[in-house]
Amino acid sequence: MTATTKERPEPSVADPVLSLSGIEKRFGAVQALSEVHLDVAPGEVVALVGDNGAGKSTLVKVISGVYQPDAGSITFSGRKVQVGGPSEAQALGISTVFQDLALCDNLDVVANLFLGQERGSRGWLDEVSMEKEAWRLLRTLSAKIPSVRIPIAALSGGQRQTVAIARSLVGAPKIVMLDEPTAALGVAQTAEVLNLVERLRENGLGVILVSHNMADVQAVADRIVVLRLGRNAAEFNIADVTTADLVAAITGASDNVVAERARRGQPDSIAGAVDE
Ligand SMILES: Nc1ncnc2c1ncn2[C@@H]1O[C@H](COP(=O)(O)OP(=O)(O)O)[C@@H](O)[C@H]1O
Ligand SMILES: [Mg+2]
Repeated sequence: MTATTKERPEPSVADPVLSLSGIEKRFGAVQALSEVHLDVAPGEVVALVGDNGAGKSTLVKVISGVYQPDAGSITFSGRKVQVGGPSEAQALGISTVFQDLALCDNLDVVANLFLGQERGSRGWLDEVSMEKEAWRLLRTLSAKIPSVRIPIAALSGGQRQTVAIARSLVGAPKIVMLDEPTAALGVAQTAEVLNLVERLRENGLGVILVSHNMADVQAVADRIVVLRLGRNAAEFNIADVTTADLVAAITGASDNVVAERARRGQPDSIAGAVDE
């Protein structure tokens, strides 16, 4: 373990928009989260990393109101909140892009962006307003979508992820969480999605990026929070971290082949090395 790895890192965020402390979550005999703390500032990308079963998805679900924590507190925009469910999270300004995206293939981009949040009244949909807003959101992301009137089925994997991220911006959130947004994507599409994450940051949003891919994390994150066995294992500023540090923190050991190779100064590219 390195010097930057502490049992309990100093809070490194001045004015977090989201702050968790002492979060506990148990499923039967499994303690999925223990004393977890996490801060995210506006305009900051925090990568949440850890091995399978580390508790990443559980933490995302606690923040998005899918699960209620057994203990601990969540402070959002300076006040203690209880996130009773996903729609409450949305109303507060916490938006989540889950791994399965939950898009409707047969509906067009506009319909997907406003699914469940349609504009209009008394059964009449304000298509003009929704289409305008769709273009505005896509422009915010500098996104490359050819038309907002084509069905999702006609889009590439990267474009679908773009639509899912654009949808997360409906309602002007302050925090966007992305669970493994590049897991199913090729190299070019991954780069496109990482660009979107940059745009979110430029727009002043706090971003929580869950990823297995160390190359992605090192490309866009400002800070990296490592969970191991449901606990905070380490926290790094992106400028100070090496791949060996990260792998050691994720696995809890510094004697594995990936860390060893990184220490010997071999190419620092381990994308996929800690993949599922
Ligand atoms: N709904 C659930 N019921 C029972 N156990 C769960 C449930 N969700 C997660 N777990 C357990 O909690 C732990 C953390 O899981 P998870 O948050 O999915 O980890 P990660 O996303 O980091 O892979 C694992 O041991 C997992 O088996
Ligand atoms: Mg998960």
